[in-house]
Amino acid sequence: MTRCLTWLLAPLLLLAGCISTTPQASLDDTGNCTAMVVGGFRKVADERSERFNGKVGEQVARCRGGDRAAAFRTTPYVDWSNYWATGDATSLLPGTSGVGSHLGANGRGVDGALLDLEYQRMELIKFNLFDNAGSFADYALGRDGVPGTALKTWPSMRLDAGSPFHAAVGGDGPQLCQGELIRWRQLDGICNDLRNPWMGATGTLFARNVQFEATYPDSSGDPLARNRHGDRLSLLQPDPQLISRKLFTRAQSDPAECRDGQGLPGAAVDANCDYQKAPFFNVLAAFWIQFMTHDWFSHMEEGHNGPQWMAVGCAGDAAKLGCRPGDRIDASFVADSSVPPRYTAADGTKPLARAFRTHANKVTAWWDASQIYGYDATSRLRVKRDPADAARLLMHPGTRPGAGEALGQLPVFGPGDPINPQWAGQGTAAQADNWSIGVGFYHTIFSREHNAFVAEFRRRAAAAPDEDSGLRDPAQPTAVVRYRDVSPDVLFEVARLVVAAEIAKIHTIEWTPQLLYDEPLNLAMNANWGGLFDGHRWVENALEAVVVQNFGKSADAKKAGQWYSALASGPGIFGLGARVYTSDRFFARHDATKDDIWDLANPDHVNGGVNHFGSPFNFPEEFVSVYRLHSLVPDLIELRHWDADPNRIAAKVPVIETFRAKATGALANEGAADWALSMGRQRLGLLTLGNSPAFLQNLPLPRLQSSTGKIDVAALDLIRDREHGVPRFNEFRRQYGLRQLTSFDDFIDARLPADSPERARQVQVIADLRSIYGQHKCDASKVITAAQKNLDGSPINDCLGKPDGSLVDNIEDVDTVVGWLAEFTRPHGYAISETQFQVFILNASRRLFSDRFFTSSFRPEFYGKLGVEWVSHNGPTGKQFEPRESNGHRVEVSPFKRVLLRTVPELSAELAGVVNAFDPWARDRGEYYGLGWTPRKGAESDPAFRP
Ligand code: HEM
Repeated sequence: MTRCLTWLLAPLLLLAGCISTTPQASLDDTGNCTAMVVGGFRKVADERSERFNGKVGEQVARCRGGDRAAAFRTTPYVDWSNYWATGDATSLLPGTSGVGSHLGANGRGVDGALLDLEYQRMELIKFNLFDNAGSFADYALGRDGVPGTALKTWPSMRLDAGSPFHAAVGGDGPQLCQGELIRWRQLDGICNDLRNPWMGATGTLFARNVQFEATYPDSSGDPLARNRHGDRLSLLQPDPQLISRKLFTRAQSDPAECRDGQGLPGAAVDANCDYQKAPFFNVLAAFWIQFMTHDWFSHMEEGHNGPQWMAVGCAGDAAKLGCRPGDRIDASFVADSSVPPRYTAADGTKPLARAFRTHANKVTAWWDASQIYGYDATSRLRVKRDPADAARLLMHPGTRPGAGEALGQLPVFGPGDPINPQWAGQGTAAQADNWSIGVGFYHTIFSREHNAFVAEFRRRAAAAPDEDSGLRDPAQPTAVVRYRDVSPDVLFEVARLVVAAEIAKIHTIEWTPQLLYDEPLNLAMNANWGGLFDGHRWVENALEAVVVQNFGKSADAKKAGQWYSALASGPGIFGLGARVYTSDRFFARHDATKDDIWDLANPDHVNGGVNHFGSPFNFPEEFVSVYRLHSLVPDLIELRHWDADPNRIAAKVPVIETFRAKATGALANEGAADWALSMGRQRLGLLTLGNSPAFLQNLPLPRLQSSTGKIDVAALDLIRDREHGVPRFNEFRRQYGLRQLTSFDDFIDARLPADSPERARQVQVIADLRSIYGQHKCDASKVITAAQKNLDGSPINDCLGKPDGSLVDNIEDVDTVVGWLAEFTRPHGYAISETQFQVFILNASRRLFSDRFFTSSFRPEFYGKLGVEWVSHNGPTGKQFEPRESNGHRVEVSPFKRVLLRTVPELSAELAGVVNAFDPWARDRGEYYGLGWTPRKGAESDPAFRP
């Protein structure tokens, strides 16, 4: 098989792809590359402890990145970030100006990075899926002769007798969703997978990405966890509010200008709250991800947690730093805290079959825009449809001038709406909690977008009422549905499918490549969507053939799991299985010369593109943890007016003054265009220590039963992770196949010169970390993990490579959020850390692989002809391209920019110079992934560019 793939992918991946771990030194590229090629493809690890860890041998490093790549192989961080062409122009081979050929140094660097990332994804799929809902023993042991990783249905994903749809899907017999249940996204998420109706539905359990034994390290009965942490940890130990005040607080040059995030009276422009800014990512991007998480997961139900109230730290002297001992919060809901079952593994051991405790996801896990459209009966009552046309969402014309305002603002909750009192006065939305100016903005423009789709559909229907809309009713699969036959209810649900897919596309090919601003990630994310080999048809065809001949229907675990991911990189995950040709099925792209036999009446076609890799899809607790991105938010928003000089900051509006109902008021008063312009031009906060918004450390919440009425959200992020049993940072890395750190000093970026001020700053932060988490005398007899071994094959012990009895840092105790914020060493252009990214590689891919509406059901039968066109071409008027190349690529006008141009057309002049709408709008993108903070032409007078 190795040979076959080598042949197929040569020359594209061969030079990049063959990973040798032989540590031989050579200064000559040709020699290094030849040695690497002879080494052949690296094997996907058989054992958890033999994983790749993102570290390559010296020859491979030199072949792909020269001396620099070789020099940093001893750090814990992934090697690909030091390969040629993976950074800005300075990472290109001297004398070159672009990536060039795959065989040149820059091409080898980028291809090598892509291959490293794909190996990581394959091993993440293999080693990091731990379903909590009852399927894990089958996954580990297999069922009826089928290996666990090739299983496709699970008893725990059936609808139970209490479901109103139990009989409709087959009752107590084999269950299969059909008819109306498969026509569109169901409100509570059932029947996305036809044979696993309950998967991803509201109320299903959060999964895990780590061995169950590694969860709840502070309270578990696991001996390794006890060895790892001694008795140093508990829910409030180390003190989360102390950590927040000491490690998270934003230092202020003049606290009187910031006033804990409240700014100055009247939103005066003289206010200033210092924060560390990311030069290549804007505030729109910060709120985009809050908007996304509201769709994906929630531990809270209707804006509250469980019934018990608990203290949240700030003991002893900590209060001197500004925290509040009187704060209280409601404890997280627990779904099941009974003693977890165990199963007997092949080696006779009895591992856990679920985590020590479980928690339910209170919204659908699907990327289905449930924050807009609802996830249960109560939330659906908050969704307002237009009485004049039930296909539309209700919007009221805004009062500010501008074509976008005429498209409407959200209606406000009224009497009789099922809301929590603290949501009164907010714009209507299914998910109403923590409503911010940004979230309100996105709900507004995607409601406008929904209506824009409906309007275009109606236009086509009026022009040609008897024409085939492309839609089909699964109950009558062969009957043509003409435009005139489409009822408002059907059109509403089709528009929901389109909006959800647009959002997924924006996130995948626009938000993420700007979050991870370098060439490998730009290619990788576009590959998830459109295919790595877009435009290289011979490779695609070869891949199709391999899949059909070797893996297509295979129940073999290795084939189904490991290579599927890699091969799907060819055509891309999106639309996988949406074409079925007699000779090649799963990886086929559209080919007008072939006869597409995809059939709505055939469940294997409707569902055929999904792959769950043996484990039912849901987000893991660890995924929620790495999305605790509160540091992205600034304290003050620099308000600008689109119909005045956009370079002028007219006011500094405290974000806290745009929270909940005030967000809706602010949107109505200023109009969506002003907020888009303001958030589009302003840089967001870096995800690093010392950068939490002051207002979030002092957030008033009316529902709190405490003397202070406030909560520190940054401290709460740590408490929630502890309640949910997220492993601490070092074990978290080991579990995800990344190298461990052996002391706090490993956080320091080894690439910085010894005398750099930034290095000195990092050294100071390390001292603070040490003062909080402390040190202990190590005991080499204590083995601390089952996830990895030392490089010599010995178990990892409490001394982490130091002599027995040494004083070692309590690096094992560092909270995961603290750890990834402290990761100063990052790939170029990464707004997040490599640890967070590792979590995304797995779960972002799975979220696409598992959803039939993004794979085999991305078809006109469900989306209509217009819907398929709209999602594929970013709107109704065909593909559009930017006039200039960006980072060496010809680029389509991005999907979010197209949404903005449709829904906030006032901004067309401002957006003309924007390539990625999440890049600060007035920034000059410079050359090849430059991070410079310089104005583009026309924005020179913008004060944001002053030093
Ligand atoms: C105005 C801005 C924001 C405010 C006021 C806010 C406030 C809060 C509050 C009060 C909680 C609930 C804590 C609890 O009881 O568990 C929370 C949770 C959370 N927030 Fe934010 N937040 C804001 C922005 C963001 C942003 C930009 C992100 C980025 C992704 C984010 C991600 C999260 C996540 C992942 C959770 C945990 C949700 C869960 O456990 O299900 N928030 N936030």
